[in-house]
Amino acid sequence: MAPHSRPRRLAIAALTAVLAVLIAACAPAHPNSIFHNHTEFNREIGYLFDILIWLGSFVFVFVEGILLITLIKFHKRDGQPAPQQTHGNTKLEILWTAIPALILAVIAVPTVRTIFKTEAPAPQGALQVTVTGHQWWWQFDYPEYGITTANELYLPIGRTVNFTLQTADVLHSFWIPGLGGKRDLISNHTNYLWFTPDSVGDDVFNGFCAEFCGTSHANMRFKAFTVKPAEFAAWVRHQQQPAVSLIPDTTKAKAAKTPATKGAAAAAQVAQAAPATESFVSFPRADIPAYAVPETPIPAGLTFDQSLKGDPIEGEKVITSMTSQCLACHAIKGNPMMQGVVGPNLTHVATRSTIAGGIYPNDVQHLELWIKNARIMKPGVLMYTFGKGQMDPQTGKLSTYGTLTDQQIADIVAYLQTLK
Ligand code: CUA
Repeated sequence: MAPHSRPRRLAIAALTAVLAVLIAACAPAHPNSIFHNHTEFNREIGYLFDILIWLGSFVFVFVEGILLITLIKFHKRDGQPAPQQTHGNTKLEILWTAIPALILAVIAVPTVRTIFKTEAPAPQGALQVTVTGHQWWWQFDYPEYGITTANELYLPIGRTVNFTLQTADVLHSFWIPGLGGKRDLISNHTNYLWFTPDSVGDDVFNGFCAEFCGTSHANMRFKAFTVKPAEFAAWVRHQQQPAVSLIPDTTKAKAAKTPATKGAAAAAQVAQAAPATESFVSFPRADIPAYAVPETPIPAGLTFDQSLKGDPIEGEKVITSMTSQCLACHAIKGNPMMQGVVGPNLTHVATRSTIAGGIYPNDVQHLELWIKNARIMKPGVLMYTFGKGQMDPQTGKLSTYGTLTDQQIADIVAYLQTLK
């Protein structure tokens, strides 16, 4: 092997890395970049970052320049005697102590200023949102409006939002790179974070958990939709409405008994159950950019009989019964049986674009597979495997909670789809 092959390989690797970084920097969109400057929080951080990167670059070029000059000027030459050895240089030592001390002092001023600004209490009149981290999903409460939702955050443009950050279990970290954060959710301690989204139009931002919190840490995502104040108000009014039951009351039960009229009765009930139309119910699916649509592949080996048609009324009966055990963990406002607080609130689940902590699109296929075997769909998830005859990957045995047939699951999903 040639003696210089290793340095050459290293040089090629370094060049490839530099080119990769350059190519990545040329990509047109950086949806998850912190340099969007859509909030005063990110602008403060960006300002500090600019100072540090420029000062750091100057120091790097200066030090490396001196090093290069020294290497070239004083390198070993043939026939030259060994150079004279010296010990200590008071002037140099004072200089290389004083200059870094001065640089640190200069950096400290804007750093401390930014820390005080971003740690200050939120201004009066801020929208209050309580964020609760769960393994592995996000709960968002709007206490002044009595709204509880999951994994999708709606924020009005131009109004400061103050997040109260809590955790239901282990440490998490709340981070929307395009808006602000990251700030930790710590057990037995409440953190706060505030900023004012000021993008001009409706926008979607990806959110992440930025603190390792267990098996599905990487699957703990969410979305933040920044919308116009009028749209936010409409969204609030819509979210405040309870879910309306589809199950016919006893006076209508007779009419619904024969199979021929059952479907028609269900359709009528669904139409009746739909809440009053608001001008804005949720961010239109069609307008959600590709970077905010999950692409998690469906794990191999999971099957579902796609030919089954779900009946939403049957679905509501199953979800509310002890058979399915959904009520142990989930809440649906308006249904006195559904009061669980362990899992996401399902009152308006059909208005959300994703399920499972933002890793799958909220559609019939993914919901069916999710209920059938959530533990295959999302490693470590607390939700049990409810599909009949399904293996629970966490125990390696048949799921003891697996009681639901594909038909029952299809019914539940048909019902969930009505929860707009
Ligand atoms: Cu929650 Cu990582």
